[in-house]
Amino acid sequence: MQNPYLSDKETNVVVSLMRSVFPRVVIEFGCNKGLTSRRILRDVSSVERYIGIDVPPNFRTVLPGQQSEVPKVAGKEAFFDSRFFMLEIENGSKDLTFDDLEFCDAAFIDGDHSFYGVISDSELARSLLRPGGIIIWHDYGNPTVEVTKAIDCLLERGWPIERPVEGTWLVFMRI
Ligand SMILES: C[S@@+](CC[C@H](N)C(=O)[O-])C[C@H]1O[C@@H](n2cnc3c(N)ncnc32)[C@H](O)[C@@H]1O
Repeated sequence: MQNPYLSDKETNVVVSLMRSVFPRVVIEFGCNKGLTSRRILRDVSSVERYIGIDVPPNFRTVLPGQQSEVPKVAGKEAFFDSRFFMLEIENGSKDLTFDDLEFCDAAFIDGDHSFYGVISDSELARSLLRPGGIIIWHDYGNPTVEVTKAIDCLLERGWPIERPVEGTWLVFMRI
């Protein structure tokens, strides 16, 4: 099934960036139906646990342009895999704290695309990332959302984010 949010090239880049750190635990902020989750679970063999985060169908997104992205059943494409755990958060990922999650080796941030949403998910992901891990963001360079402004702010704060992966809206940071 074609993913409406990531091109095939972008999905392949996410898979190879993840493979490069041999992650045991992966967290995806904004997993939607679970299409990228399913691909990573299939192609990154080191993964022992994959935590997908999304919102219930009645959730109102911060950016009105994201409303149509809210899935009817978050994570459903990955439910068959026993390593996949779905966290459906009533008020969105900004309500999550360090104690709700666990240490991880890779995080994919592709949820709330508002400036403060990206900053909040990024800070949480960084606090959970084990040494040797990676954070990947999608939508850097997408003019319809606020991801670029948020990443530029993190760069100004000294986060060692590498940008962009050519021909994609992906950027990443290794710790
Ligand atoms: C572009 S889609 C994600 C695509 C997915 N990462 C993939 O690769 O298939 C953005 C997702 O973020 C979710 N989302 C929007 N606001 C959110 C929030 N505040 N907390 C968690 N998820 C949110 C939406 O419901 C939507 O499923």
